[in-house]
Amino acid sequence: MYLRENWYVAALTSELDAKPLSRQILGEHVAIFRSESGRVTALADQCPHRGYPLSLGTIVGEQLVCGYHGFTFDGSGTCVAVPGQDRIPSRADVRRYALKEQGILVWIWMGHGEPDESKLPPTPWLTEAENWSTVSGVAKISASFDLLVDNLLDLSHETFLHSGSIGTPEVATTPLEVEVDEENHVVRVFRHMNAVECPPFYARTTGLHGKIDRWQDIDYTPPGHYLLHARIAPVGQPPLPDGTDDHAYHMKIFYGLTPSSEGKVYDFWALARDFCVGDDEIDRFLEKMQTSVVQEDVDALNILQSRTDERREVSEVSVKIDRGGLAARRMLASMADAQSAS
Ligand code: FES
Ligand SMILES: [Fe+2]
Repeated sequence: MYLRENWYVAALTSELDAKPLSRQILGEHVAIFRSESGRVTALADQCPHRGYPLSLGTIVGEQLVCGYHGFTFDGSGTCVAVPGQDRIPSRADVRRYALKEQGILVWIWMGHGEPDESKLPPTPWLTEAENWSTVSGVAKISASFDLLVDNLLDLSHETFLHSGSIGTPEVATTPLEVEVDEENHVVRVFRHMNAVECPPFYARTTGLHGKIDRWQDIDYTPPGHYLLHARIAPVGQPPLPDGTDDHAYHMKIFYGLTPSSEGKVYDFWALARDFCVGDDEIDRFLEKMQTSVVQEDVDALNILQSRTDERREVSEVSVKIDRGGLAARRMLASMADAQSAS
């Protein structure tokens, strides 16, 4: 069951150019486009005339023109022109989805009710360009949404799946702590590794080598918002009692988890850092590293899903490292129950 009354990442702003973008989100086909004045609109991606995808149409000024016979729609989804006649049938309008641009992200509200802006977590690291540099990307995975949640909530897999970039032995051997914030709907997973090896991902970007303190603090706000606060610091230098932490390097590693259709999920990512801000070479390095890290996850999840599909019954053996993932599953299940009951 899809959790509809929520915001999901629909696109990166960098994906919006002169042509409409086609996305399938929560099983629905959506056409997303930026008009000439800069407004971003999402419409149901099916022309009411004969069903041609509107995402194959053309952006003309503020409007989207169907690529088959030219039915034309404005930014509210209202049909404003049809070929060969002045009268426009009242049933020719299409659904418009509420969108919210937040830095490099375009969020979509998939609910049928009024969009709830309080459900959109603030992401200042994506909008304060003077303090943060960001690289981003998106992958589509042929695996269920649940498998991606599992993957992101248990980072011990870094040691084995991402050993060449971010995985060191200590990620898997350091115990984690899990906190469930029922009131704010957040699952938090903490793994603080002290005096551990600095992986290439951070050595090249921070200049630190040898032993470091490396913290991974995850905030997962189901269903679609995941944020990993990464803290990299010289050994034995925790944040000061007043909270300042200027001697450390910080990254906000964001994932937007967006179900596409049954067994398919979009994995949007954005990496923001508060060091080497504006350094293009570091941007390129991180973009390349993260793209390959994400591809390792994509490959693993694609294989896992195809093996899962072959089995009649799925059996699992859960251990301590799975506590974050299991807490996330419980929270998702209770959200689904609440939706069914409403
Ligand atoms: S299908 Fe769109 S105008 Fe005919
Ligand atoms: Fe991974």
